[in-house]
Amino acid sequence: MSMQKSVRRNTAPDIAGRKGAEPIVSLTAYHAHTAQILDPYVDFLLVGDSLGMVMHGYESTVPVPLDLMIMHGAAVVRGSSRALVVVDLPFGTYEESPQLAFRNAARVMKETGCGAVKLEGGTRMGETIRYLTERGIPVMAHIGLTPQSVNVMGGFKTQGRERAEWAAIEDDARVVAEAGAFAVVLEGMAELLAARVTKSCPIPTIGIGASAECDGQILVLEDMLGLSPRVPKFVREFAQIGEAIETAVKAYADDVRARKFPAEEHTYAMKDDAGKVTKKTKMTGS
Ligand code: KIV
Repeated sequence: MSMQKSVRRNTAPDIAGRKGAEPIVSLTAYHAHTAQILDPYVDFLLVGDSLGMVMHGYESTVPVPLDLMIMHGAAVVRGSSRALVVVDLPFGTYEESPQLAFRNAARVMKETGCGAVKLEGGTRMGETIRYLTERGIPVMAHIGLTPQSVNVMGGFKTQGRERAEWAAIEDDARVVAEAGAFAVVLEGMAELLAARVTKSCPIPTIGIGASAECDGQILVLEDMLGLSPRVPKFVREFAQIGEAIETAVKAYADDVRARKFPAEEHTYAMKDDAGKVTKKTKMTGS
């Protein structure tokens, strides 16, 4: 009996090979059922540590624990079959040393079944990216606005609006590519700089708030669905799911209070002695 699956999942090299070709499409996913809906339409799914803010009510991504990433990562792998699944390494699990990064990234790969990890940082993470990729762990890098550094940056600030900032960010892109990253997320970056980085960088750039000049795009699913209370300027809300949920929940509450739900079609009737389903009759006795 063949154990081969009919659908081949995208790999990190597949994404790397898309440089300069058709735009790469990606979204975040945190659950099995949303992963299943997104899977046919995206090239990769990111289990981003933004889940801490979007789903778990944290003010930033800093408190997100590794176990939470693993739990959501495994769900997204279970729910998808063709998109590459990339899981974020959360703050504090990789910065200290390449060895610590390897131990945690290997855990993520073994326990979720994902195809790659993502970590934040450019030049300063070059050695770690090389260490991981040489040991079998595909790495997506993340430069520009790096949310895990929010406390150092003093807020979520767009990068590269002053020319004086460009050289350091261009160096970041060069270093992560030379170290072996298969793609790099450019977050919150001025358009001209994103265009320059995309032109000079040999690996695909994936933009979020970094203009259409990038090789691909990613958004946080809840933001583009209209489920987040506040969204940054770079998000287009492709739907208003928050409003749709509120309308549905209000209708449910009204119907329960008016005893209109559950109705007969939602109710299990009794069978009579001959096994025939009977219509509801008035309750008799106690
Ligand atoms: O955590 C996340 O959702 C991300 C994206 C913003 C790229 O890293």
